[in-house]
Amino acid sequence: MTNISSNDIIKAFKFRHACKEFDRSKKISDKDIKFILETARLSPSSFGCEPWHFVVVRDQELREKLKPVAWGAPLKLDTASHFILGLTMKAPMTKPSSDYVMHIFKDIKQLPPDALEAYTGFYKNFHEDDFQLDDDKKKFDWAAKQCYIPLANMMTSAALIGIDSCPIEGFHQEKVEKILTEDFGIDIEKYGLSYMVAFGYRKSDPARPKTRRNMDEIITWK
Ligand SMILES: Cc1cc2nc3c(=O)[nH]c(=O)nc-3n(C[C@H](O)[C@H](O)[C@H](O)COP(=O)(O)O)c2cc1C
Repeated sequence: MTNISSNDIIKAFKFRHACKEFDRSKKISDKDIKFILETARLSPSSFGCEPWHFVVVRDQELREKLKPVAWGAPLKLDTASHFILGLTMKAPMTKPSSDYVMHIFKDIKQLPPDALEAYTGFYKNFHEDDFQLDDDKKKFDWAAKQCYIPLANMMTSAALIGIDSCPIEGFHQEKVEKILTEDFGIDIEKYGLSYMVAFGYRKSDPARPKTRRNMDEIITWK
C-alpha cells in the first residue's frame, strides 16, 4: 500500500461536491475513467453478489433521450465528459439459487462444493428469514443498496484524482425504464435503474461552501 495521507483524503472529500455544470471542453482520459470504473468493480456487496451493471452513455443522441424523463440531469447530460447509468439487478437475477447467483458462487467466487452448499443455504435464509425479502420490490431495494457502494467509491476515487461528479436520482423510474428498453436494449425484467452519475471537470467552483451536520449530531459513542 502506498501512503496517502488522511489529510489528502479529507481534501478530496471536501473537493467532491454535486457538480451542477461541467466544462464541456474538458474530457476525462480513458485511463482515468477506467480507474474510476475499476473502483466500482472492486466494491464490496452483500454475499459478494455484485448485483450491478454500469452503462457508460457516450452517444449524444442517447443522452438526449434521457433528458425528458430525468429532471435532475439535463445540464449534466449536456456537459459531462462521462455519463453513467447505475443499473441494479431485479428479483429474477438475485433470488436464491437463480442462475446468476449460482454463477457468482460457482464461477466467480469458485466455492468448493461443501462451501457452495452452505453459502447457498445462508443466502436463502438471509432472503427468506433474516431480511424477509419476500417480494420483488424488497429484493430490488436490497440489491440497490449494494449498488450505492460502487457509486460512492467512484465519486471518491474521482475526487482523489481531481475529477468532479454528480450523483442523480432526479428521474422518473418507470418512464426511464421504457427508454432503457426501447433505446438502450436493456432487459428491464432483469435490470432497473437506481441512479445516474455524471463525471467531468467543473465549470466553476460551487456557489456555496459545503454544509453538513456536526459530528456530535450524527455519532453516538457508547
Ligand atoms: C443518491 C443521490 C441522488 C442525488 N440526485 C441529485 C440529482 O438528481 N440532481 C442533483 O443536482 N443533485 C443530486 N444529488 C446531490 C445532492 O443534492 C448533494 O449530494 C447534497 O445536497 C450534498 O451536497 P454535496 O454533494 O455538494 O456535498 C444527489 C445525491 C445523491 C447521493
